[in-house]
Amino acid sequence: MANSTTTARGNWNSKLGFVLAAAGSAVGLGNIWRFPTEAASNGGGAFLIIYLICCFLIGFPVMMAEITIGRKTGKNPVGAFKELGSNSFHALIGIWAVICGVMILSFYTVIAGWTISYVFEELFFAAGMTGWASWISDTSNGWLNALFSVAFMIGTISIIRGGVSEGIEKATKTLMPLLFGILILLIGYVVLQPGSSEGLAVYLQPDFSKITPQLIFAAMGQAFFSLSLGMGAIITYGSYLSPDEDIPQVAALVTGMDALVAFLAGLLILPAMYLAQANGIAIFEGGQLIAGPDLIFQVLPALFHGIGGTLGVIIGSVFFILLSMAALTSTISLLEVPVSYAIDEHQIPRRKAAMIIGLGILLISLVISFKVGLIGTFDFIFSQIGLPLGGILVCVFLAYSWKTSNAFKELERGHANFSQTVVGKSWKAFVMIICPVVILYNLLNALGWFSL
Ligand code: PFF
Repeated sequence: MANSTTTARGNWNSKLGFVLAAAGSAVGLGNIWRFPTEAASNGGGAFLIIYLICCFLIGFPVMMAEITIGRKTGKNPVGAFKELGSNSFHALIGIWAVICGVMILSFYTVIAGWTISYVFEELFFAAGMTGWASWISDTSNGWLNALFSVAFMIGTISIIRGGVSEGIEKATKTLMPLLFGILILLIGYVVLQPGSSEGLAVYLQPDFSKITPQLIFAAMGQAFFSLSLGMGAIITYGSYLSPDEDIPQVAALVTGMDALVAFLAGLLILPAMYLAQANGIAIFEGGQLIAGPDLIFQVLPALFHGIGGTLGVIIGSVFFILLSMAALTSTISLLEVPVSYAIDEHQIPRRKAAMIIGLGILLISLVISFKVGLIGTFDFIFSQIGLPLGGILVCVFLAYSWKTSNAFKELERGHANFSQTVVGKSWKAFVMIICPVVILYNLLNALGWFSL
């Protein structure tokens, strides 16, 4: 029987609806942009292996924990911790999650705006309007950043206003299959071009000498960011999940889809870089492969312009459409967290909450549009530190305050005898000890508080 709070707040129409929405939250700029560039600058295949270990051994148990907390309470993160916790301190975990979500959304919107501006850049360039193309692609232009951030936030708000099944589920059911299709087509094109194969080798051949504590920190931070963990998005999406769904199964599907898209994006980006090099475009800077925004917004557009003709426009604009779609399915999950908080805790109607909160966050995005240097600072505080910290708090809360025995009761509603299975027993050990210790150790290590 659906829990009554869930019904009143909205819920997913199907298991696929949840899986695609959660995978949509997970698959984002983090997969298509951040993962390949991190892998490129951190030993290629070695980073890939560490990353996959972080996703499945650390991310997956935390994802199960978050879905379980969300579904049990049928509430937003603040309400969920308040309900399951024994004192008001516990609600702070939810508040921290909401703060991280708001701050991540504020800078994510600016970057997402760049991805749309580059769709225009590709089209203008192809039409010979190169003056416009270079104007549109100027990511240091505050007014332009502001304009595209506004456009992106309006798109995000309009989907969230539609509600869980009519807004989020409908949008992600359309966007996610399209995203997969486009990604596969682009990979097919790039890897068939002569000159791209060196990129495949760099990506797939591990250089284990590159594994350092910093690399492991980067891989874990990337896994948390990419799986949308530690900030309540998955708790919120889990709160709309029907009680008879099998949580371990859906968590595995979401983790697997996210890791798959990251892996596929590496198959696109690294060969594309070496293809660019074969076409005379510099891909190294100071002996390092170019990464980050310079890779996405300079190296790749130069490659697309070099292809030229109709094919060049199609590949270039479709690549940036792919990035925009991936970003949109993530921004909606980021906005849904504070919106669900406003609906549950302050009884504000969804449409009004989406509008007020979305526009409020947009104000921060507008400041960032003119001071893009803030992106690095926000990213460090709220995603690289904030999300692993949120993950530790979720595990410690579940294991020592709410207790795994209660979590198992919730898990067994959709997966009979889960606590007796190997996965169930290992999950308990991971949530109680392994995940919090490994994440904490890694976090302190990276902050330089002690060294490995
Ligand atoms: N997972 C998204 C990405 O990889 O781009 C970013 C993100 C979305 C992080 C939602 C956190 C979140 F709650």
